[in-house]
Amino acid sequence: MIELEGLTKRYGEKVAVNHLTFTVRPGVVTGFLGPNGAGKSTTMRMLLGLDHPTAGDVRIDGRHYDQIRHPLTYIGALLDAKAMHGGRSAFNHLLCLAQSNGITKSRVAEVLDTVGLTAVAKKKAKGFSLGMGQRLGIAGALLGDPQILMFDEPVNGLDPEGIHWIRNLMKSLAAQGRTVFVSSHLMSEMALTADHLVVIGQGRLLADTSMADFIRQNSRSYVRLRSPQQERLRDVLRQAGITAVEAGNGTLEVDGARSERIGELAAKHQLVLHELSPQQASLEEAFMQLTAESVEYHAHAETGPPDTDGWAGGPGSASPGAGGGWGEQWAREQRQKKTGS
Ligand SMILES: Nc1ncnc2c1ncn2[C@@H]1O[C@H](COP(=O)(O)OP(=O)(O)OP(=O)(O)O)[C@@H](O)[C@H]1O
Ligand SMILES: [Mg+2]
Repeated sequence: MIELEGLTKRYGEKVAVNHLTFTVRPGVVTGFLGPNGAGKSTTMRMLLGLDHPTAGDVRIDGRHYDQIRHPLTYIGALLDAKAMHGGRSAFNHLLCLAQSNGITKSRVAEVLDTVGLTAVAKKKAKGFSLGMGQRLGIAGALLGDPQILMFDEPVNGLDPEGIHWIRNLMKSLAAQGRTVFVSSHLMSEMALTADHLVVIGQGRLLADTSMADFIRQNSRSYVRLRSPQQERLRDVLRQAGITAVEAGNGTLEVDGARSERIGELAAKHQLVLHELSPQQASLEEAFMQLTAESVEYHAHAETGPPDTDGWAGGPGSASPGAGGGWGEQWAREQRQKKTGS
């Protein structure tokens, strides 16, 4: 278990991590999400004693990292895959780590095999590709067979087979009852891997919740309809107290009504439907809604009109006039609803 209590880190004027309090529990994969510069890596460095908190505390199974005698046997971490002596072979790099933590030589060969690097075990790490370096870093994390594992963007540079492998590895480590804490910007991958999410923005905690609740609470689910009898359908729905909003391209969108009810009403009035589909937002959409106001580094299109076609207009955004501000406005409305203001 990893416990953070009011964890804070300042670099001069910059508050990189701002009073973070949460617990990472065993038995599940916990995703650690946040926009660029949100403070994820800084938090992870403090956990490993590589940075000192300005205030607050972080403990691993009740202890500070520097109080643990053979830390690799408690917590394995991949923070920066390039943080190794390039002149050493993969085998020797791991052997040095093993010897400093009372781990046997045979375990080195074992983890190299696990990550698929046996064939290049004698090759110098400086000649490794990005993905090979990530695999070696993951081997280092697994070396001490620890109960707690922490990975900072582990899928960076991995090929599809590698991504699939690490997804299954993290799930199986959690299923064995271990604590798995992983950061990533690949939302589709996180959606498949993590059971629980901790989301931060500008150093502050934004969410600490299950994946399912996170998506439910931070996104819009609605039903999309298409009918050649659109006007009659809207009337029928209106009479039943259901509002259908035109969303362009001949589609209607309905919030707050189940597709079953809409389908039954249409059948009762003998209306033809060409589409009746419940839309559930993805993790990426939910994440962008929640963090819209805490993104520090925005990219800007060089030319052309704002994207009204893609995500910028919100989930299933066919709504006309929806621009980049939609997410922010939506996020504000959601927060107002929650606080009742
Ligand atoms: N050693 C440092 N000195 C000064 N500022 C730092 C230092 N390390 C991090 N920061 C600042 O702290 C903030 C958080 O950085 P951090 O690397 O923790 O973010 P992150 O969430 O890991 O981002 P990314 O997703 O881009 O990896 C950033 O504004 C960064 O510039
Ligand atoms: Mg980082």
